[in-house]
Amino acid sequence: MTADLEVAYVGLEVADLAAFESFFTNVIGLVPGDTTADGAVTWRNDDRAHRFILTEGPANDAVFVGFEAASAEAFGRAVARARKAGATVVEGTTSDLAARRVDGLVRMETPWGVPVEIVYGLAVAPSPYDSPLVPGGFLTKGQGFGHVVFVTDDLDSADRFAREVIGLVQSDWLETDLGGLPLTVRFYHCNARHHSLAIGAAPIPLPQKLHHVMVETVSQDNVGSAFDRAWNAGLPIANALGKHDNDKMFSFYMVTPAGFQLEFGYGARTIDEPWRDDRRYDRISEWGHQPIASPLHQS
Ligand SMILES: [Fe+2]
Repeated sequence: MTADLEVAYVGLEVADLAAFESFFTNVIGLVPGDTTADGAVTWRNDDRAHRFILTEGPANDAVFVGFEAASAEAFGRAVARARKAGATVVEGTTSDLAARRVDGLVRMETPWGVPVEIVYGLAVAPSPYDSPLVPGGFLTKGQGFGHVVFVTDDLDSADRFAREVIGLVQSDWLETDLGGLPLTVRFYHCNARHHSLAIGAAPIPLPQKLHHVMVETVSQDNVGSAFDRAWNAGLPIANALGKHDNDKMFSFYMVTPAGFQLEFGYGARTIDEPWRDDRRYDRISEWGHQPIASPLHQS
């Protein structure tokens, strides 16, 4: 059974905030949210108060991820599940609630090193999402703002935490070879989105825990237009246009100013309940996603 959760927001600590302002506005087509009570700048891809919460600092990595429960009751169930699974669950303070613009919050450390916050009641923005760069906007209703993918050197502990503490359900997993290095990635859902979280076993030590964050738009044309904007902005394209094998997402990956990647996609398959397609895949993509330039694939 899925957990009545969706990805609410991701907290990013980046060295160059100004570069992200241009990247989010002019390339991705996000719109600014209000600055938080604790001074973070925010961006959004729908009508919620914030989806990306940015502070300036050297990490160039995700520093927290919020999972939103659908109701106060679902929040209570999620917290009880985490405690029962043995997690150390820290109650959010009044100032935490104000900073995240939520009605309830608990925080937990994770085996992959980026704290997870379970929240409910994420505030609605004062105005709807609207950007001429992304007609129709992004697919978020009931699915959260997108997905996040982390890397870890302890996939077994991460897998246990994702399932038993957060209550996610594995959608499928990938076992393949990346330039001669073994790669295993596990994909987890908690709503109709094929995966809200994925965790990869890093074949080599990587400088960041966050591999990429994904936003899903409503048309193939929007993906193509975003590709052109990224290309024209001179951003490294980690993986050009392609279609994933497991979630069937049509997408490309660009390297953000912080080094982790952003996947811009459209058309992923969704999860049917009960889910009966949890199986192994041996390739990342049906076609495409060719590496053009990234720290791992120098062009
Ligand atoms: Fe992805």
